[in-house]
Amino acid sequence: MYKYHIVTYGCQMNVHESEKIAGMLVELGYHAVSSPEEADLIVFNTCCIRDTAEKRAYGNIGALKPLKKKNPDLMIAVVGCMTQQKNASNALLSKFPFVDIVLGTNSLDQLPILLQEKRQKGSLIRVNEDPTVDPSLELPIYRTSGTNAWVNIMYGCNNFCTYCIVPYVRGRERSRSLEEVVADVKQLIMEGYKEITLLGQNVDSYGHDLSDGSDFATLLQRIDALPGKYRVRFMTSHPKDFDRRTVDVIASSSHICHNIHLPVQAGSNDVLKRMNRKYTVEQYLEIVDYIKSKMPDVGITSDIMIGFPGESEADFESTCDLVKKVRYSNAFTFVYSPRKGTPAATMEQISAAVKKSRITRLVQLQNDITKELSEGYIGGTYEVLIEDVNPKYPGTVCGRTDSGRLVTLTGSPDLIGSFLMVKITKARSAALFGEMIKE
Ligand code: SAH
Ligand code: SF4
Ligand code: F3S
Repeated sequence: MYKYHIVTYGCQMNVHESEKIAGMLVELGYHAVSSPEEADLIVFNTCCIRDTAEKRAYGNIGALKPLKKKNPDLMIAVVGCMTQQKNASNALLSKFPFVDIVLGTNSLDQLPILLQEKRQKGSLIRVNEDPTVDPSLELPIYRTSGTNAWVNIMYGCNNFCTYCIVPYVRGRERSRSLEEVVADVKQLIMEGYKEITLLGQNVDSYGHDLSDGSDFATLLQRIDALPGKYRVRFMTSHPKDFDRRTVDVIASSSHICHNIHLPVQAGSNDVLKRMNRKYTVEQYLEIVDYIKSKMPDVGITSDIMIGFPGESEADFESTCDLVKKVRYSNAFTFVYSPRKGTPAATMEQISAAVKKSRITRLVQLQNDITKELSEGYIGGTYEVLIEDVNPKYPGTVCGRTDSGRLVTLTGSPDLIGSFLMVKITKARSAALFGEMIKE
């Protein structure tokens, strides 16, 4: 029996795509192993959102050369967003001639055929650079994410933010039908999953490409009506499409978490305009205020980027002001990294020293806010879905509040998958600690 090992980079979409790759391999009779040394097939599911993501993949692929030399039967496949970039597959093979298969995200279903063909021929490439349909839709899924199950509601992105490579490697927005998504979620709840995370690059534009009038708020409403004890999360929402109706649906729902990832990217209107984000700081703050007024317990998180071309010190300070106003429960902070083929890559760039200073200040500011918010949880009781053991503290388990905060408490692994009422007793930066309340 063949053994496989998958290395995944990038976003949740990719994590879920790896479950589809695993699904195909399991159907072929492969089984998973945790180290590359034991594997007959190693798959790198890559990301190209930033230079660092690409460098990491390149480094790890290169490091396999000795293993391949020792075991020439070992198959190495590189798939995912990196391979979808223009001319990337040839560049990859000339750098790493020992790679056997290069496969684009939009051609993932070809993997079994290529594995067969490869046993007779040299290196193979299959990348569909102009995707209109998504073959990965119908693939079997081998779920690895415990209590949570991912569900794609749409693929691709139409927004063309000027810094971003995603629309080029993932193609245009394609929504799945509402009935199909609802049926998937229903099935997963019946199978015992306690949390469903709806995935898309821009979930709140769900349905804009469908002709039956379906939209994101309606989808949430339909899912929320399904019976059972479960939670629903979703990501990522684009502020330009996040409307009051969606907020109202979430606020009045029984299952949709009060946890909204609403990436702002920057707090300066000038920068937002050049990023092509299609909203202003004022519009962003208005929807945030509305969310908070309807859900005072909400956890709002964000992606924030510093060092976009032309970002002045005043622009950066506006970003800090916005962060202070919104008080995100958590924020992913990024240093802008030029991506070939995107408009911002040809704009005048900011120096590395300035970027470094700004990211340090922003991270410090957000850490202080997260810490203050964490302290506000102490003494309160929250419902927590136990997701895993916390390997950092033996004898403990951990899970999230509805608002998305991670809580650790004493307990045994048999609690995984249960909803517990937990009293928060201690906070350390982003981490909360608590104890189970006996009912
Ligand atoms: N669709 C989502 C985000 C997808 S990418 C959205 O629109 O919010 C995740 C994050 O990576 C982005 O929110 C952005 O903050 C960051 N990112 C994208 N391109 C980047 C680049 N060229 N350099 C640095 N960060 C980038
Ligand atoms: Fe990239 Fe913008 Fe699309 Fe998000 S919305 S994936 S940042 S182009
Ligand atoms: Fe990366 Fe592709 Fe996701 S570029 S962030 S893996 S959509």
